[in-house]
Amino acid sequence: MAGIIWHDRVDSTNSLALRQISTLDNLSVLAAREQTAGRGQRGNRWLSRPGENLTFSLVLRFGEGGFPPLAAKQACRINILAPVAVRDFLREEGCDCRIKWPNDVFAGGKKICGILVENGLDGGLVAHSVIGIGINMNQRVFDELANATSLSCMTGKQYDLHASLEKVVAKLEAWLPALRDGDAYAALRREYDAALFRKGVVCQYRNLLTDKLFSGIIEGVDEEGRAVVTNCDDGSLQRFSFKELGYIL
Ligand code: BTN
Repeated sequence: MAGIIWHDRVDSTNSLALRQISTLDNLSVLAAREQTAGRGQRGNRWLSRPGENLTFSLVLRFGEGGFPPLAAKQACRINILAPVAVRDFLREEGCDCRIKWPNDVFAGGKKICGILVENGLDGGLVAHSVIGIGINMNQRVFDELANATSLSCMTGKQYDLHASLEKVVAKLEAWLPALRDGDAYAALRREYDAALFRKGVVCQYRNLLTDKLFSGIIEGVDEEGRAVVTNCDDGSLQRFSFKELGYIL
C-alpha cells in the first residue's frame, strides 16, 4: 500500500487525484475531512458533513510502476470491485447491505455509499483509475437527502474515520487480483451478483435511452458489467450499460 494522505479540506478527492495523477504512486489514497465540491455520478454533487463520513479516492496505476496493463474493455472490473469491497467492510461492521447496479451500496433500502470511478485511457488500455468513494459513517441527519443512511444509523455506533478507512482500503486491496486473474474475477462477480439490490424481483425501471418505464427483473451482470434484465412487458432479455437503466426507488 502506498499510504493514506489525509487532507483537512479539498474541493474533491477525485479532482485532486486527477490533478496530481502524474506524481501519485500506485495505490495512493487521498482522503478528506471535508470536500467543498464533492462530485457524484452524472454531474451530481456529493454532499457529506465535514468530519462525519469517509470521502476518499484510491489511485490505481497500470503499466510501468503499477499493475500489469488492463484493457479498456475490462475497466468495468473496477466498478464491480469497489462496491463489493465496501460491502465486505460494512458487513464486517455488522451492516447488512446490497449493491445497487452499477456501484451504489444500499442499507435498509437507503444509500450508504456512492462510488465515482474515473479512468484515464491510453489507446485501448486503462492508464490510471481514480476510485472515489463516499461512505456515510457517523452522519445521522441528512437534511436534503431523504434516501440516505449511514453506518451509524444502521448500527447505532460511532466510528473512528482513520481506522475505518484503513479497513476499507484493506478490503479494496484484497480484491485487486480480480483485475487480472480470471478466477478471482469470477469469484468477484459471484459476490457482486449475490449482493445485487432487487435481484430476481419484479420492479419498475426506466430505460434511460428511450425514457420509457417498464416492469423488469434484474437477473445479474454480464462479463462486461452490463445489467441483464428480463423485460416483463415483452418477455425479452435486455442488457443495459452504465447510465442506460434507471431505478424507480
Ligand atoms: C455517486 O453516488 O453519485 C458517487 C459519489 C462519489 C462520492 C465520492 S466522495 C470521494 C470522491 N470525491 C468526489 O468528489 N466524489 C467521490
